[in-house]
Amino acid sequence: MRSIALLLFLLSVSTFSVARPNWSLELEPAEMAQAEALYQQYCSLCHGEDRSGYRADHAPSLRSQSLLSTAFPGFLFTAVGYGRAGTAMDGYSDEMGGPLNRDDLRLLTRWLLAVEGVEPVKLADTPVHGDATRGAVVYAEQCASCHGAEGEGDTGPALGDPALLANASDAFLRHAIANGRDNTPMIAFADLLPSTDIDAIVAYLRSQASGWSPQPPTLRKPPAPEEYVLNPDGEEPVFTLREGRYVPAAEVVRALQEKRRFILLDTRPASAWQRSHIPGAVPMPYYREKERAGDNLPNDGTWIVAYCACPHAASDFVINNLRELGYQNTAIIDEGILVWTALGLPVTAGQGLATD
Ligand code: HEC
Ligand code: HEC
Repeated sequence: MRSIALLLFLLSVSTFSVARPNWSLELEPAEMAQAEALYQQYCSLCHGEDRSGYRADHAPSLRSQSLLSTAFPGFLFTAVGYGRAGTAMDGYSDEMGGPLNRDDLRLLTRWLLAVEGVEPVKLADTPVHGDATRGAVVYAEQCASCHGAEGEGDTGPALGDPALLANASDAFLRHAIANGRDNTPMIAFADLLPSTDIDAIVAYLRSQASGWSPQPPTLRKPPAPEEYVLNPDGEEPVFTLREGRYVPAAEVVRALQEKRRFILLDTRPASAWQRSHIPGAVPMPYYREKERAGDNLPNDGTWIVAYCACPHAASDFVINNLRELGYQNTAIIDEGILVWTALGLPVTAGQGLATD
């Protein structure tokens, strides 16, 4: 009986303490300041300090009226929390091993609109009907040069990405194509293509969707500092550096095979390390405070090789910090991990996400 009473008590407490998520666009000054600080620490590296995008890796603008008004809240929240696999946009949610909890993610999402003074627009949720075969032809002619032949992304976002397609309604896609994204290379196609061709492209993009749901990995423990140095008894690797900093992936593979002594740093968000990483790599996300860049890293001439997806933005940032702290032998994998993976070079998958 006592335990039932306790259970009822706990249930009633939890019912009362579940607050509705706060999606208000009226932010207190303290919230504005907190969101801005989160943004500068985690996002400005690629999206730029002023949010206009293209600071690194073709990261899109986070200022365009057309995106913000139609993407609030779900599309933005999901993009930031769960990311886009296969692009430089990783998931920042702590469920994925990232640094931000749901309150942080919500705050950032609200702030993106509030700081730009944009009001959300409700799009119709009726599906768009079009001729997908025709859409494929128009896509190849008009869109592939920026978005990639298979929608894999290039200078424009990866439109074939399952997470994007799962969170973008037909109306959202149609709106983006017709209106473009103001102040970005994405022009408005409403006056350039017949309306039926825009519908056809939406149908084509939709036909590529393969379904998606966030798959939180079983979080792994990062290596302990005494495990940082690979092959502690090995010889020094021999690297030829381009511009005094970039080492070809092939030389890093050779150093791994020959069991050379060095340290590998994964400078992406910790969630990306959780998903997959080069065997032996230590998670050292770019958003660590600068003074902590050298935490637990020996400063005794041991080679330190960093990589990211970008292929350079995050790793350049971390290596610059280390060089300022006086580290001598430092380098960056020139091709980045996306090319590394595409070349079939070894990566260790995080548990639970082996096929990601
Ligand atoms: C000149 C290059 C270029 C061409 C051509 C182009 N796009 Fe884009 N597109 C972009 C860029 C860059 C963005 C991201 C803009 C931003 O928000 O910063 C984008 C954004 C988009 C988005 C929004 C994606 C999102 O996640 O918000 C859609 C949808 C889209 N494009 C579809 C198309 C389609 C369909 C075509 C062909 C009819 C096309 N684009 C042609 C460069 C291009
Ligand atoms: C390492 C570079 C990088 C960092 C850091 C980064 N992003 Fe991105 N972000 C990208 C890229 C690249 C894309 C486009 C991915 C694609 O092809 O779909 C993107 C896409 C997005 C999108 C989707 C936009 C759209 O039009 O679909 C949002 C929203 C976003 N990022 C917000 C953020 C926020 C907020 C942060 C910080 C918590 C952040 N990003 C950190 C590179 C980055």
